[in-house]
Amino acid sequence: VNIITVDHHKHMSKIASEFIYEAIHRNPNLVLGVATGSTPEQTYERLVEKIKQDPIDLSKLKTVNLDEYVGLPREHEESYWQYMIQHLYAPLELSIDQGLVPDGMSANLDEECIQYERKIERLGGIDLQMLGVGVNGHIGFNEPGTSFDSNTHVVELTESTRIANARFFQNQQDVPTKAITVGISTIMKSRSIILLASGNEKATAVSTLLKGEVSPEWPVTILNQHDDVTLIVTKDAIETEE
Ligand code: F6R
Repeated sequence: VNIITVDHHKHMSKIASEFIYEAIHRNPNLVLGVATGSTPEQTYERLVEKIKQDPIDLSKLKTVNLDEYVGLPREHEESYWQYMIQHLYAPLELSIDQGLVPDGMSANLDEECIQYERKIERLGGIDLQMLGVGVNGHIGFNEPGTSFDSNTHVVELTESTRIANARFFQNQQDVPTKAITVGISTIMKSRSIILLASGNEKATAVSTLLKGEVSPEWPVTILNQHDDVTLIVTKDAIETEE
């Protein structure tokens, strides 16, 4: 794992946005794996600013989301589709058919998972995957204990993840209980990965990764077995408070 340590969240976002900008610049056909949540919000903001300043061809860019809640229609303001529209698609005027997001409203969720995996394969796989990490070490919504061989699948969200994500919903009961997520195997097939982490609450997950061990109890630690991972991390997310 290559490590870039920065002082602030803002600086992490700037570096991550430049990383992605350069990747699109080098390869306009880039298949970009995208994350949602708080961590990458400013990264998208900076990326949009940078592209507006120095335009690049986005017409062939494809994005692939890591996950989506089950039971939220695409129009729901907390669906990850809406997140992508708000943070990337609307400001950059991308066409909806450039993006893949699992359909959490599918009547046949298992079939949706199989099809999602196939769609990624048909795009030629993911070139650059952006990841955040959960407080419990999850990547995508692959919670602790998930098989390293997993493909796209339906997951029951853990209580801790539902509590962590309750801030986006009016009531904690409104947080969906299930999600569709790409699997750990899907993530590991990406040609390169950038992992973003900021804030002291992520420090245990990050330091477990950096100890070099690989354990299903901390899904993020599988990244130790990938040969092209760049971690962009704030100082406070690397130091555990004793
Ligand atoms: C989001 C995702 C999750 C988040 C993680 C951290 O698509 O797959 O793994 O990256 O839950 O979330 P934040 O950034 O909100 O702390």
